[in-house]
Amino acid sequence: MTAQVAVLASGSGSILSAILRAGIPVAVVVSDRKCTALCVGEQAGIPVELVERRSFGSDFDRDAYTDQVVEALSRYEISIVAMAGFGTILGSAVHKAYPQRILNTHPALLPAFKGWHAVADALAAGVKVTGCTVHLATLEVDEGPILAQEAVQVLDGDSVETLHERIKQVERRIYPDTIMRMLRSGAGGAASKGEAAK
Ligand code: GRF
Repeated sequence: MTAQVAVLASGSGSILSAILRAGIPVAVVVSDRKCTALCVGEQAGIPVELVERRSFGSDFDRDAYTDQVVEALSRYEISIVAMAGFGTILGSAVHKAYPQRILNTHPALLPAFKGWHAVADALAAGVKVTGCTVHLATLEVDEGPILAQEAVQVLDGDSVETLHERIKQVERRIYPDTIMRMLRSGAGGAASKGEAAK
């Protein structure tokens, strides 16, 4: 399989680990901060790129930061960009560089509970069922065509942590499956190094 995936992650990297376990060819792991996900990539012998985000305040220049990420990605042959808990919303340049080829996994049944606090919001709303969604990422956060979804029961006594962990167990299965399906369908197969820099 020549098509390769870039994984963007900022957290513990358990979804990244699942992607690797599934045998998906990962060309690079990119993060916006020092995090365990980068160690997961390093330990797997995969190139890692720390494109450190310097500001989380109102002075954050999203477009300039996105350009840095696109520049880092452009050094690799990439067919698909898979966001797996990436902590920065990227600007339009990345969508231009990888049109229809950026995937995201979200810990709720979209279009319900968009945003950073999806698990806490679902608990607070008292829903009995939530879940996870794999979708094509677009400029509008947590929008974009849904590719896969699976429900997860909310149990009595669930905390954000216990519920999120059960959701992640499902994400670790359906996200790699969806990425693999997309690779096999040839989506983005024409991607090459220089394209992202255009
Ligand atoms: C996942 O639940 C993903 O949907 C969300 O961040 C979490 C990443 O988990 N956006 P991990 O860092 O891979 O364990």
